[in-house]
Amino acid sequence: MNLGPVIMEWLDELAECSEDPAELTRRYLTPEHAQAAELIMRRMREAGMDARMDAVGNVVGSFPGPRPGARRLILGSHLDTVRNAGKYDGALGVMLPIACLRWLRERGRQLDYPVDVIAFGDEEGLRFQATLFGSRAVAGALDPAMLHAVDEDGVRLHDAMRGFGLDPHAVGDAGYRPEEVAAYVEVHIEQGPVLEAENLPIGVVTSIAGAVRLRVEVMGRAGHAGTVPMNLRRDALAAASEAVLAVERICLGTPGTVGTVGVLRTVSGAVNVIPGVVEFTIDVRGESDDRRHVALARIDEAFAEIASRRGVLFDCVPTHETGARRCSPWLMRRLGEAVEAEGIEVRRLPSGAGHDAMAMARLTEIGMLFVRCKDGISHHPAESMTAADAEVAARVLLRFLERFDPDERRSMGGKPGAA
Ligand code: GLV
Ligand code: MN
Ligand code: MN
Repeated sequence: MNLGPVIMEWLDELAECSEDPAELTRRYLTPEHAQAAELIMRRMREAGMDARMDAVGNVVGSFPGPRPGARRLILGSHLDTVRNAGKYDGALGVMLPIACLRWLRERGRQLDYPVDVIAFGDEEGLRFQATLFGSRAVAGALDPAMLHAVDEDGVRLHDAMRGFGLDPHAVGDAGYRPEEVAAYVEVHIEQGPVLEAENLPIGVVTSIAGAVRLRVEVMGRAGHAGTVPMNLRRDALAAASEAVLAVERICLGTPGTVGTVGVLRTVSGAVNVIPGVVEFTIDVRGESDDRRHVALARIDEAFAEIASRRGVLFDCVPTHETGARRCSPWLMRRLGEAVEAEGIEVRRLPSGAGHDAMAMARLTEIGMLFVRCKDGISHHPAESMTAADAEVAARVLLRFLERFDPDERRSMGGKPGAA
């Protein structure tokens, strides 16, 4: 088929759209987002799709089916990245389906139903902490308060939308109606080591861990590093340091949860000043929402204890929360059959990482394929996968597409839109 090398070439090309020439960073509503969107739309049009940008900056490509009224299958993933990212997280799930649809078109093969490929503009939440903004909008599940989120330069999301040529009052236009959608299927690199360890190129995702993110401000009292005795200090950074270790200890002790402090900074810090204000982030995830909530409650208690002992205040603001999501059994079965038809053992595995599929589960049934990546590394420039595995994933997706029946779930008595 030779789709693997084509997909890898397209991914290399997309990685050129970066805010920093030395590393890959592509945040929501930046000129590089617009540049990537242009490139993706070009690839979509070459594949015989109608391509457009929607009301929140997602790129949507429509591949027609013979029955225009039939419910559509949505494929896709995100076009934004973390800072100093790899080339495959998100981008693979955009470029691979386009390559598959182009392959079908070049052979004059039609699908029995319409397909939309969506490149979501914001999944990572890097710029505004508005995680899954693009897919939430498509799922009709956007919290309008998110439009007031502010980036590190003080720019509000709604102003950034205007600057990008979008109307923040029209975000509702990005939403699909549940009755027009049959399912959402996302192809993504695994971002973990399981498939590689088991010598398998591809796996079928069973569920996606729930996640919560918080922004924490610790308020102590700034002071002179030489004059304030140790026992009279209210050092915000020393308190935050204890808090970071508490997050680690609590998540270690709550099976099935993981907790990370990925950002920590001293506001107006200086070498000879006792830190007065410190900001940090917390990200806690788990397959069980109950256990994740238990971990959060313990974190809360630990912070209250640190605050009273050290005379500081903790202000914790949630910036994102999504419950754990299960993939639909019938989609897992169909994806598994496509894997098996390629002569590959069907490995089912959960996802610890978040995905657009979590938000799309509010709209429709979800399914995901994971593709092996090197050493389980992701959110890092060393993120890597092979053209051979891209080829396998493309073959599997094509088999799935050729057998997909948008009415299968309905004929099984299921309610469209019920996740
Ligand atoms: C997204 O990549 C996430 O899992 O944070
Ligand atoms: Mn990511
Ligand atoms: Mn991703």
